[in-house]
Amino acid sequence: MKRIKVESFLEVYPSLGELPEAISSLMEAAIEARDKAYAPYSKFNVGAAILLDNGEVISGSNQENAAYPSGLCAERTAIYYAGAKYPNAQMLAMAITAAAKDKPTITPIPPCGSCRQAIAEYEIKQKKAISLYFMGKSGEVMKSDSLENLLPFLFTSEYL
Ligand code: THU
Repeated sequence: MKRIKVESFLEVYPSLGELPEAISSLMEAAIEARDKAYAPYSKFNVGAAILLDNGEVISGSNQENAAYPSGLCAERTAIYYAGAKYPNAQMLAMAITAAAKDKPTITPIPPCGSCRQAIAEYEIKQKKAISLYFMGKSGEVMKSDSLENLLPFLFTSEYL
């Protein structure tokens, strides 16, 4: 038996204002998307915005459904649309923000496991890391250089 250590490094920015300008604009797009979320059941609004290498920004928000599992997270709404609309563009960065309606959301909210798996697919497809920035409604912003930091032991098409 041997032990394996899995380690990740993320950066923490004290606030939105400390981000590089291109990224704070991307986060603003995610905030705008968040405010358009359709989340009547959870009352937890999430927005995501993706910067493409062609300069386009594709954003999305969570879309819920009375049949709960039929809803979709903001990150996947955005990334599937980006993949559908610009299949040959590279995704450079994704900004994510979440805000609960009934309580303050002041800690960074990371993407859920299913969204991590979806983001991983596009990193592998484009053979280039996607920078991820995530925050709550306010407060610190966490940055990961790649999805790989958030999902070790990825399941990929290599295994198929
Ligand atoms: N949600 C997202 O949009 N992204 C995530 O990564 C986690 C959860 C949404 C799904 C659902 O509409 C609400 O947040 C509560 O889970």
